[in-house]
Amino acid sequence: MIKVLILAGGKGNRLRPLTVNTPKPIVPIANIPFLFYQIEQVRKAGLTEIILSLSYQPRKIKDLFGDGSQFGLTIRYTIEEVPLGTAGAVKMAENLIDDTTVVMNGDILTDLDLQTVIDEHKRRQAAVTIVLKAVRNPAAYGLVETDQDGHVQRFIEKPKEDEITCDTINAGTYVLEPGLLKYIPADEEYSFERAFFPTILQQHERFFAITTDAYWLDIGTPFKYLQAHYDIMEGKIALPNFPGTHQKAERTNFSGALIDKTSLIETDCQIKPTAVIEHSVIGRGCRIEEGVLVRKSVVWPGTRIEKRAILDGCLVGRNCVVGEAAKIHDGKILGDKSIIADYSEI
Ligand code: GDD
Ligand code: MG
Repeated sequence: MIKVLILAGGKGNRLRPLTVNTPKPIVPIANIPFLFYQIEQVRKAGLTEIILSLSYQPRKIKDLFGDGSQFGLTIRYTIEEVPLGTAGAVKMAENLIDDTTVVMNGDILTDLDLQTVIDEHKRRQAAVTIVLKAVRNPAAYGLVETDQDGHVQRFIEKPKEDEITCDTINAGTYVLEPGLLKYIPADEEYSFERAFFPTILQQHERFFAITTDAYWLDIGTPFKYLQAHYDIMEGKIALPNFPGTHQKAERTNFSGALIDKTSLIETDCQIKPTAVIEHSVIGRGCRIEEGVLVRKSVVWPGTRIEKRAILDGCLVGRNCVVGEAAKIHDGKILGDKSIIADYSEI
């Protein structure tokens, strides 16, 4: 049976302080824990067996998804005491793997059709198939060079400026034949990007690439995390179909407040008259007072924003208090329980 292993053990350092209490795989995207988006992607492809490969704060993730039966799936877990790297994590799951396996980075928001990738992998009788995406700035990713027939020629993780020879990068989805796990040493740190792929190339295994034009975003930096929200609000990527997790802004619920059509407001919020919400996502149970302006921002549950405060292009964690007339500027991130003094500007 084909299984999908989701690599979800990274620490999410680039999203700190948001990931201090919330591991990156379950940071809310439009008020829905991120892994739901990937699980939906798996479900849509008709696949039902998932392995979640965890290391950082695994309990929080396990509690949310359990054995998967409530979603009509089977979810199993592997937990690394010490992170083993992307390929080391797959090696750890070897006893759960007996067939073609899909491996996904656990921080990619995409509507890529996995079934098409698997079909293409089988058609070419590939040992490994990697999905590629053309991007503007390959330096932040793994650069992948191919020939005209889609054979992978070179893999350079986080290339330097003078190493950038093309614009196609590793989109963080692979299909692997189980026999290839023999190239990954057990019980030690090993990376797909820096060790496994170069080895596969050296061994002349059948290593193919498929370039996708699906929506694709790595949510792992503050800028991209915000971008994911803007893209959802602009309808570039759909919300997963798990009922009851989000609510579109209904102006009528908050009479006297000005909420634009794109904003998403979770349940149990109080938004006072004269508050203005533009192109933003507000988590459950937030309280937003008179005269507040929230623009292009994401606010996690339980936060209170006092009168006339202004938030513009920022990320606000859980249970924060933004004081009266405080101004929070573009790109600022407030960790959970931050308290911002009245009239301050940051
Ligand atoms: N279980 C486990 N153990 N998971 C891990 C580990 C580990 O030791 N290290 C990283 N991960 C998970 C992360 O949680 C994340 O979901 C995924 O593996 C990729 O790690 P990132 O830290 O987000 O890597 P990146 O974004 O810098 O680069 C990777 O993704 C790019 C696409 O976004 C590479 O695969 C690049 O080649 C690729 O282009
Ligand atoms: Mg990433």
